[in-house]
Amino acid sequence: MTIPFFPDDLFEQDRQAFLDLLYEVGTDDEQKFILGRRTAELERATAAATGVEHAVACSSGTGGLNLAVQAVGVGPGDEVIVPAFCCQPVASSVANLGATPVFADVDPHTMVMDPASTEELITERTRALMPAHVFSIMADMPAMNKIGRAHGLTVIEDAAVAQGAVLDGTPSGAWGDLGVFSYFQVKAFGTAGEGGMVVTDDEGLARRVRMLRNHGQDGITRFLHHEIGQNSRFDEILAAFQLHRIGGFADRLERRARIADYYTERFAPLADRGLVAPPAGRNGRCYYVYSLLVERREDLRAWLTEKQIGTHIYYPVPLPLQPAFAKYAPEGADWPRARQVSARNLAIPIWPHLTDFQVEFIADSVCEFFD
Ligand SMILES: Cc1ncc(COP(=O)(O)O)c(C=O)c1O
Repeated sequence: MTIPFFPDDLFEQDRQAFLDLLYEVGTDDEQKFILGRRTAELERATAAATGVEHAVACSSGTGGLNLAVQAVGVGPGDEVIVPAFCCQPVASSVANLGATPVFADVDPHTMVMDPASTEELITERTRALMPAHVFSIMADMPAMNKIGRAHGLTVIEDAAVAQGAVLDGTPSGAWGDLGVFSYFQVKAFGTAGEGGMVVTDDEGLARRVRMLRNHGQDGITRFLHHEIGQNSRFDEILAAFQLHRIGGFADRLERRARIADYYTERFAPLADRGLVAPPAGRNGRCYYVYSLLVERREDLRAWLTEKQIGTHIYYPVPLPLQPAFAKYAPEGADWPRARQVSARNLAIPIWPHLTDFQVEFIADSVCEFFD
């Protein structure tokens, strides 16, 4: 039995629906393939599900972060505090505007941006904070918003991996001044291609994001460019597909959560033997991937590979130690907890159509390693 880290039949059950929608959009009299009525409907559905006023569909999660940072008005001379251990767009979205990503260390267990490290880095140049939810756990948004409010900073919530997650009754994406989701295929609400969504309650920011995603046009007068924007538009076929996929989303999330509950229970006894599982519970949890922290990571990985269980390492090198961001790493600065989780994290499969038998086999295999 081979269990890939991500399945190779992601949309098998939706294959016919996808072909039908392709035909429907392709033969529609409108012949509108981007930013049409289906995109607008997906935006309304996302805003309603997230409990926010506005949702703006865009080209990807990266595209959404680019739009969010630009909409806030970040530019040369500004600093934005981002996690030292994360996906690279948190930093490139800032650097691409000529501003400086400032890297905050992370919590050694949850791997999300640490509030105390964040607050220490605030200067008179800080313009925004960008906490990100990672893998299985939402960032500490109450603390981030408190810091943001205390210092008059905008909070951009990178919820790329966490659509559908809820912390203290508030959905991910709705905590920050702006939130960003990703539809990259393997995400919890992934699609058959690329996509993203920016969500916000702020009408002005929403209007700005909407203009920026389409070359700074206002959607009324074509070829009138109010400001320099981007091409971050959204595809109608994918909008139709996402509207179709909303149907099973809650069930897929629940299945992921149940698998996570099972793993966490099975792995709890290993805590003093070199394997730390994510914290138990459902509050503030997302299940994009299930990441363990393991002292003998390479050995466990080899063991699982031998059993044909796919694993993934997110991310082997913290952002400020990457060549691309070296110039934003102040001399002498260190991110010990980011280095530690980079050296220890190992993700195991959690996709929703894993069978109970497969889930048990994965858990057994991990436990056997420690026998
Ligand atoms: C935390 C985080 N932010 C942003 C992104 C970027 O999303 P996308 O791949 O849709 O550009 C990712 C992608 O994995 C991510 O994990």
